[in-house]
Amino acid sequence: MNILILGGGGREHSLAWAAAQNPKCDRLIVAPGNAGMAQIAECASIDITDAAAVAEFAVEKAVDFVIVGPEAPLAAGVSDALRDAAILVFGPSAAAAQLEASKTFTKEVCDAAHAPTARWARFTDATSAASYIRSQGAPIVVKADGLAAGKGVVVAMTEAEALAAIEDMFGGAFGSAGAEVVIEEFMEGEEASFFVLCDGEVALPIGTAQDHKRVGEGDTGPNTGGMGAYSPAPVLTDAIAQRTMDEIIFPTLREMAKRGTPYRGVLYAGLMIKDGAPRLVEYNVRFGDPECQVLMMRLGAQALDLMLAAAEGRLEDAKVQWADDHALCVVYAANGYPGSYEKGSVISGLDALPENSKNMVFHAGTAKSDGQVVAAGGRVLTVTARGNTLSEAQKHAYAMVDGIDWPEGFVRRDIGWRAL
Ligand code: AMP
Ligand code: GLY
Repeated sequence: MNILILGGGGREHSLAWAAAQNPKCDRLIVAPGNAGMAQIAECASIDITDAAAVAEFAVEKAVDFVIVGPEAPLAAGVSDALRDAAILVFGPSAAAAQLEASKTFTKEVCDAAHAPTARWARFTDATSAASYIRSQGAPIVVKADGLAAGKGVVVAMTEAEALAAIEDMFGGAFGSAGAEVVIEEFMEGEEASFFVLCDGEVALPIGTAQDHKRVGEGDTGPNTGGMGAYSPAPVLTDAIAQRTMDEIIFPTLREMAKRGTPYRGVLYAGLMIKDGAPRLVEYNVRFGDPECQVLMMRLGAQALDLMLAAAEGRLEDAKVQWADDHALCVVYAANGYPGSYEKGSVISGLDALPENSKNMVFHAGTAKSDGQVVAAGGRVLTVTARGNTLSEAQKHAYAMVDGIDWPEGFVRRDIGWRAL
């Protein structure tokens, strides 16, 4: 079959890598792709948030199956346009993508589903938000309602920080995403990510992971899109995974179906775990980046079969064949990230690295220039390895990192520390 993958990050490279290994994949197109994906797929330059343009392109190229990587095309209705054009798609409708695109929507769904999550209140003006913060005290969490590229959340340890966040959000720091603000109870515990495939009715857990969101070692400094991840997450025991399904995932899916917006695609639940009980921090309607890279490394070619089963409503009969192993990835980012950084520096040493089912460098922000791989983004590479133990996976990943020559980039040296 002809497959189109939307996106150009490390997540999409790992999805393309898994799909390309599956004999069902005859032709692989990615849009926009990157220098790594260009080695295994054709790259197309279309605006992936233009739903009509994506559907038209897919029809023209006789695409049989589309996998949507990031949230923006989902929120823009790309899945709907593809379904209208009778093209099979892995990804929720725009209405179901509200689970990520709107924090108030998610909170309302959780309340209706009785899914455990932080207590919350919503505000559309700064004065009442500020008086609520004063009444609740710190720590407290302030969130812009809409999509803010992961930057619309302030975990305020003091009242002053929370009040400053309110000023920022209603002052327009996040544009229309901040016109409505959610204020939440601060939840303590350990965070982990739980991934399930959904076909509108059936839900199939496909793995757990933990990521490192802060830029600095010891999980310090500003938040990023993620500096590294590993799978499985030891904190998410089988018992907690079962509670997550029973108390959070199934009730949410029932509520979504009841509203006439059944959820199809991957549902990524960010959980806070304390005393053996999971609570929902947030939903994402896509794979995490870099969590996807460790999941794909562990799933390999079967990932395509599973995504197809989800898109075709056949999850009831689907099974995940798990290797009893671990994967860990390290993000190589441009100096300065998550602040400003330069583009165009040359990355060498990649050709000498192993590329197999246990070791892969997934490209994120890379491009080709004069035959060389150059940096073209903030997060540039995801160096990913498998091992029989987490520490073995970590050792292999850092061995690959050490084979890369890129003075303009940096890595965190402690990915996995919490689990080791
Ligand atoms: P979100 O974009 O909602 O995932 O929030 C980003 C990060 O903020 C999460 O990964 C958590 O580390 C933290 N966070 C969000 N909400 C809460 C909460 N209610 N309590 C504690 N930490 C939170
Ligand atoms: N790594 C976190 C995310 O993709 O949302």
